[in-house]
Amino acid sequence: MKKMQLEICCGTTCYMLGANRLLNIENEMPSDLRGKTDVRALPCMGLCNEKELAGAPYVKLNGHVIENATAEKIYAKMRELLEA
Ligand code: FES
Repeated sequence: MKKMQLEICCGTTCYMLGANRLLNIENEMPSDLRGKTDVRALPCMGLCNEKELAGAPYVKLNGHVIENATAEKIYAKMRELLEA
């Protein structure tokens, strides 16, 4: 199965608002999700300008934008995509 692409924005805004806590997510994933993603840290995705600062931190999972990203939101989206 092809791995999901998880892109974590590490631009200044996202980093300061929580992306720093997501960088280790691969090691903290529940066992049913572990090993199913390629995690990459990216510079500012431009979403903090297009949208609002209030949505940071932003991540993309297979191109789907997740605002106010938390590990729990990422896990939920991963499970949604796995079931699709
Ligand atoms: S810093 Fe994350 S979208 Fe700009």
